[in-house]
Amino acid sequence: MIRSGKDIIFASKLIREGKLVAFPTETVYGLGANGFDAKAVARIFEAKKRPAFDPLILHIAQFSDLEKVFAKPLPKLVLKLAEKYWPGPLTMVATKNRQVPEIVTSGLSTVAVRMPNHPIALKLLKQAGVPVAAPSANLFGRLSPTEPEHVKEQLTNIDYLIEGGKSVVGIESTIIAVKENSIEILRPGALTAAQIRKDFPGIEVFLSDTEEHIQAPGQLKSHYSPVKPLYLVEEEPAYLSDRSGLMVFEPSGFSGRMAPGVKVLSSTGDLLEAASNMFAALHEFESDENIDRIYAMKVKEEGVGLAIMDRLKKAAFRYSEIENYADVNVGCS
Ligand code: TXA
Ligand code: MG
Repeated sequence: MIRSGKDIIFASKLIREGKLVAFPTETVYGLGANGFDAKAVARIFEAKKRPAFDPLILHIAQFSDLEKVFAKPLPKLVLKLAEKYWPGPLTMVATKNRQVPEIVTSGLSTVAVRMPNHPIALKLLKQAGVPVAAPSANLFGRLSPTEPEHVKEQLTNIDYLIEGGKSVVGIESTIIAVKENSIEILRPGALTAAQIRKDFPGIEVFLSDTEEHIQAPGQLKSHYSPVKPLYLVEEEPAYLSDRSGLMVFEPSGFSGRMAPGVKVLSSTGDLLEAASNMFAALHEFESDENIDRIYAMKVKEEGVGLAIMDRLKKAAFRYSEIENYADVNVGCS
């Protein structure tokens, strides 16, 4: 059992001592260490079993910290985006300050930075007084945690967990690479390309072409996976065995059938709400001994639906989509 509680002052002391602290943010729980202490950061990789080529996000609580993490002069667009969206579910990638240890960025010349919008996270960061490197607090490749229990299920080798209830956004931050006049979306999230285009009309906003190059290992094809088979389906399966789970994101296209394995993530069709419930639902299926396999009904890949489908495709990647339809087909005949 890991030590957990609500002592933010104690947790910030641990951070300053080079220890590992899991903490809540509005997106998902993070596993934090002093971002300027290379040895402490190395412990994050160890605890998560994360490969060293996968760089981390630095978390800050004050705009004045931007200069500590990014190289000078700061791109004007970075400042404008920070003013508009921080604290919030946006991570910005730009040239790093030389002070940032190589281990944080996996040797890249850029660094990813975010100011989370969560009172506990902000207080922890202010008290710690250093930028905090924090990936999601799960084992590498597994489901992201949106509740303290999810962290406890996966991580054993950490010094403290701050309990802060459920993460309200529930899906990892949107990651963007910021250039002078353009923004490349490296990982879709709750803050959508459409919203950024609306707020910054003169700026080109484009989605990264993952086929061409993988800039963020979050762009790896397999990621965020439950330990049970997950299949993405276009339509509601006609037959569901007792041991199947079904994730429904919105009521359209869903018959409304009641079965123990059916989870409707938003009864009103609000995809932001559905996204915020997605990882928790997957965690529940994962730990439910009555469930052997999970079906998820696809959503349209637009707006936050893009972020939902990005996570679902990666979670389902190791199980091919339709061939494994076995128990659905049996009952259809
Ligand atoms: O919402 C979030 O972003 C959460 C909370 C805890 O802040 N953090 C999170 O971290 O999702 P993580 O490590 O699970 O995902 C961070 C992603 C990784 O896929 C990593 O490759 C990418 O950010 N990344 C980090 N530095 C980068 C860089 N310099 N260039 C491109 N991608 C980078
Ligand atoms: Mg992660």
